[in-house]
Amino acid sequence: MAIEQIHAINVLSIKGGVGKTTVAINLAVALGHMGRKVLLIDGDPANASIAYHLHIDEPFISIEEAVLEMRPLSEAIIRYKEGKIDVIPGMESQTYPLSGAQTEHLQKEANSLDYEYVIVDTSPGIMAPQIITTDPKFLYHSLIVSTPYEPTIKSNKKLIELLDENGMPYSMILNRNGADPYGMSPSQITKEYDIEILQVLPEDEIVPRSISKRTPAFLLNKNSEFSKKIAAIAKGL
Ligand SMILES: Nc1ncnc2c1ncn2[C@@H]1O[C@H](COP(=O)(O)OP(=O)(O)O)[C@@H](O)[C@H]1O
Ligand SMILES: [Mg+2]
Repeated sequence: MAIEQIHAINVLSIKGGVGKTTVAINLAVALGHMGRKVLLIDGDPANASIAYHLHIDEPFISIEEAVLEMRPLSEAIIRYKEGKIDVIPGMESQTYPLSGAQTEHLQKEANSLDYEYVIVDTSPGIMAPQIITTDPKFLYHSLIVSTPYEPTIKSNKKLIELLDENGMPYSMILNRNGADPYGMSPSQITKEYDIEILQVLPEDEIVPRSISKRTPAFLLNKNSEFSKKIAAIAKGL
């Protein structure tokens, strides 16, 4: 039976290096292990890295090639068995404005996706690429990832205001909590910036270790503090 509602989750941040890719991958895998039908898309052509993180070394068709060459998305979908998810990897490339025909192709392909969750890892910045379709079966939600470093909080506050102005739902995830002795505490962030925090992810050595092993942290150890918090986010989505 076709899926009636697709949760389209964009993982966003104005700054790079805050943990967007880490959160997108681990959340996708946590949902996959909960039995959800998940597609993870690498939407960061500036730093396409999901193939690296998931140890995908065989040749693949990237999301950029699928869209620009107007190929079916099904040709680009790879099964990532260990994570129990499907993936469309990306390729480092410049972004071009899509032609009318390419946009139409992308919309048609997006509308035919049959997943409960489509998670998109995006480029830093406000104009993060997203799969936009007007099909009401897509429920959009942005997950903003921030570190406790005050300038990063300040810039993500601007992103929050923009999403608010456009009536787009979002949640804030505070990542790498505890890494920086001068970082803000979650309660300070809420009080001083009026930002509600959905979940706090700790600084955890499992993250750099998992990257060195090209295996998501959630698969290395489900019981790490980081993985438990990721599972909590996945359960609430
Ligand atoms: N919770 C965490 N604990 C420890 N290190 C982390 C954590 N989250 C991210 N990192 C580190 O931060 C770096 C950037 O993470 P990444 O997910 O690639 O960020 P982004 O996609 O926002 O650029 C990586 O080297 C990763 O090891
Ligand atoms: Mg990234």
